[in-house]
Amino acid sequence: MKKNLVRDILVLNGSPNGNSGNCATLIKHLEKMTKGQASLDVIHLAKSAYGLSLKKKIEKAQAVIFVTGTYWDSWGSPMQKLLEQMTELEATPALVGKPCAVFVLMHSVGGKSVLSRLQGVLSTMGFLIPPMSGMVYSLVNDIALKGKSTHAQDFWQMDDAHLILANLYHACDLKVEWTTWPVDKADPRRRWLKP
Ligand SMILES: Cc1cc2nc3c(=O)[nH]c(=O)nc-3n(C[C@H](O)[C@H](O)[C@H](O)COP(=O)(O)O)c2cc1C
Repeated sequence: MKKNLVRDILVLNGSPNGNSGNCATLIKHLEKMTKGQASLDVIHLAKSAYGLSLKKKIEKAQAVIFVTGTYWDSWGSPMQKLLEQMTELEATPALVGKPCAVFVLMHSVGGKSVLSRLQGVLSTMGFLIPPMSGMVYSLVNDIALKGKSTHAQDFWQMDDAHLILANLYHACDLKVEWTTWPVDKADPRRRWLKP
């Protein structure tokens, strides 16, 4: 039987500007780049609350792409809200070993820290971070790349998304029995500080 090579990938847009922002434009680029190789289900978190439907989408997806801008050195508030709400999925089969990629936009500074910290959070939750699976694209890069420079190869550029997606596809094909550390499954919001 022929293997279905069109991966089901969930795209979570953490921009407060939802489907009208720069992150939404980046996602349009990703849709073109993945044609024939992946089917993208795009959720703009600014407009979609976390609930059973999104939980099921996360569970079902073969991989997840996280997209966010940089807002005062951090990821978008809808992304933060999602991370808090999906804590119930931490260390569960819905996440453990699920490959993810991260795309961060920014004007000029702070995005690399957003990328590294977000990948750190996602790994701790159970996601698999493939090699070279995240990038930051900035307005500064966009302007700089219009000029010619022998240094340009060292700048993240839109085309790098192709190799990030290729690594994500490879990771989708991995079959690994990951082990999971124990997680306190009681309410993480319960109070621990004595009055
Ligand atoms: C409130 C706010 C804060 C921002 N903070 C930063 C920042 O700290 N560093 C940076 O380089 N760009 C910053 N930006 C620029 C955005 O990260 C950038 O325009 C991004 O593409 C926005 O994506 P969006 O249009 O999907 O929201 C900020 C933009 C806004 C609106």
